[in-house]
Amino acid sequence: MIVGRKSEGGKGWQAVVESEGEERERRIAAMVAGMSLHDKVREMAGTTNLLKQAVMLIRYNRFPFLAGGNRRLGIPPLRFTDGPRGVALGRSTCFPVSMARGATFDRDLEERIGEAMGIEARAQGSDFFGGVCVNLPRHPGWGRAQETFGEDPCLLGEMGASMVRGLQRHVMACVKHYACNSIEESRFFVDVRIDERTLREVYLPHFKRCVDEGAAGVMSAYNKVSGWYCAQNRHLLRDILKGDWGFAGLVMSDFLWGTRSTVYAALGGLDIEMPLRRYFGRRLERAVRKGTVPEKVVDEAVTRILRTKARFAKRGGVYPRDMIACKEHVDLAFESACRCMVLLKNEAGTLPLRRDELKRLVVIGKLADRGNIGDKGSSRVRPPYVVTPLQGIRARAGSVEVDHVDGEDPSLAADAVSDADAAVVVVGFTARDEGESIPYMKAGGDREDLGLRDSDIALIKAVAAATDRCIVVLVAGSAVLTADWRDEVPAILVAWYPGMEGGNGLAAVLFGDENPCGKLPVVFPESNGQLPFFDKKASSVEYGYYHGYRLFDKEGEEPAFPFGYGLHYTEYQYSNLRVSAREMGADGSITVKADISNRGDMAGCEIVQLYVGYPASGIDRPLKELKGFDCVRVEPGETRTVSFELAARDLAYYDVSAGAWRVEAAEYDIFIGSSSRLSDLRLEGTFRVR
Ligand code: BGC
Repeated sequence: MIVGRKSEGGKGWQAVVESEGEERERRIAAMVAGMSLHDKVREMAGTTNLLKQAVMLIRYNRFPFLAGGNRRLGIPPLRFTDGPRGVALGRSTCFPVSMARGATFDRDLEERIGEAMGIEARAQGSDFFGGVCVNLPRHPGWGRAQETFGEDPCLLGEMGASMVRGLQRHVMACVKHYACNSIEESRFFVDVRIDERTLREVYLPHFKRCVDEGAAGVMSAYNKVSGWYCAQNRHLLRDILKGDWGFAGLVMSDFLWGTRSTVYAALGGLDIEMPLRRYFGRRLERAVRKGTVPEKVVDEAVTRILRTKARFAKRGGVYPRDMIACKEHVDLAFESACRCMVLLKNEAGTLPLRRDELKRLVVIGKLADRGNIGDKGSSRVRPPYVVTPLQGIRARAGSVEVDHVDGEDPSLAADAVSDADAAVVVVGFTARDEGESIPYMKAGGDREDLGLRDSDIALIKAVAAATDRCIVVLVAGSAVLTADWRDEVPAILVAWYPGMEGGNGLAAVLFGDENPCGKLPVVFPESNGQLPFFDKKASSVEYGYYHGYRLFDKEGEEPAFPFGYGLHYTEYQYSNLRVSAREMGADGSITVKADISNRGDMAGCEIVQLYVGYPASGIDRPLKELKGFDCVRVEPGETRTVSFELAARDLAYYDVSAGAWRVEAAEYDIFIGSSSRLSDLRLEGTFRVR
């Protein structure tokens, strides 16, 4: 097929779009065969021109970043934009950050959020959305931990896949940053040394889950893994992603400094350099002419790109601009803000605040009066408004008098609460303290120390001494230490960065209009020393097999608050564990059921967690691992049954010497729990794999 003149070329692309399956593959092959080397290479890079680069410096994410595209041939460019707390263009809806949404453990909610973001991305001219960040924070102080869903591969995979499902009704989803990207300040150079079993079992399964869900694209990370930059890491890109997992989509690089070479990157499996044409422009053409990059490598990349564009060309509908931050999406932002709050401590019924029992409430802290929705890096969303904690509390307080003190002077704050009925102290972090770190800008970065500022601690202590109803609200993107002050306050609520409706969501939970039901997606340690060694400037780091709750279990350490932990304004009772069979084959599966009853007088959602233990394993394995979760809404007095499908292949370990996954024929433990803490594992059973 010859594609040259405009009309013919356009028709060629249209025919690709209209065809399906093998027919489409044939047409793509014919189209690629008819393209000049120059045209093919142009598909493989971003097209951000000088003007746009200048705009980019002043206002990042002002426009979608374009890649490829060929008018003569009728091939559209990719139009990439960022997430994940919303669409990083225009005045989009700002949802709680991913870590907060991870705390909902709610696939359906995440899918709906993905769908809303997909719609808003399209309405602003983008069709490729970089909002599926599933990096596993080996240490919770990673500055961009707020962009991911938590520390556990099963949780990360399920939430990431849910987002992919929702998004891809409208746009292409880009899953990032592949792989082992979890130190912010050294991301451009750190070499993550990791053994194959750890890589496959701990750091990659959630990427695979998103790929299996049909994700269109994968973004390679900045860092190196085992000596090779991710954008030229043949093992990650070719052997595992495109080989073992059969990924048929495209791989694009992370942005500036994300691509480091022409030949290695092309041979390594990178399909698109973003956002500029530096290594994959003329240099790539030259490399092909010289024979250092075989032309079939370029053909393969272009095939992937065209296949992906064609697959999504007809998806979606009509996207008027008034769908951006429309009522439905704002309601969803409110729903997720309510659902992400995690109640860590609640003594003597301190919460909920009862309007009929309160006359005066003092809200304390600078962060109480600040729209604080997360970092200001590439994931920054600029919503039409942000409801602060103070605004949200005032709006829901009814006849309760609400005062605010900034807490700059702890003794003034203490004076202010002495004749009040309760105090809400809002402390934690902002974009200055954690988040994506942009070179030469003093913001973001990692939190090596998870403790609050001394001034925050002094404020909490002063207020706690002045009232016995001191409620601490933590604003953060990840774990926070509580040991220095926890015993002095009766209630602690984690609000994360809860998005544009965050203040309303927080207030709804404080006043008991909503039952808190979030659970921790990361361990909150008792001290920094319980965590893996973390050096934010490291040029080389070893990622071991254990992190998060698995590490705490292994070392017999007690965290302050375990993974999966969160209280409610009601009590759930677990009963009646049913395992469908005592035994299964290595390719079989069983069904596990349990009943959850609400024994209190408020409806709510309980996040039921299924863990598996390996008491009879012949190899070193975690004490237990999350293998399923469900979020069930239970009315007072009601009992609901949750049901999990557990496949034997989900219990496999990676046998490095054989280069294969193995399911051990052995006895396994099964636990159904309300958190990962031993005493919260409410039901126990066993089964065998033959
Ligand atoms: C970030 C990516 C982001 C890209 C484009 C990079 O600095 O690491 O997450 O998608 O910029 O904005």
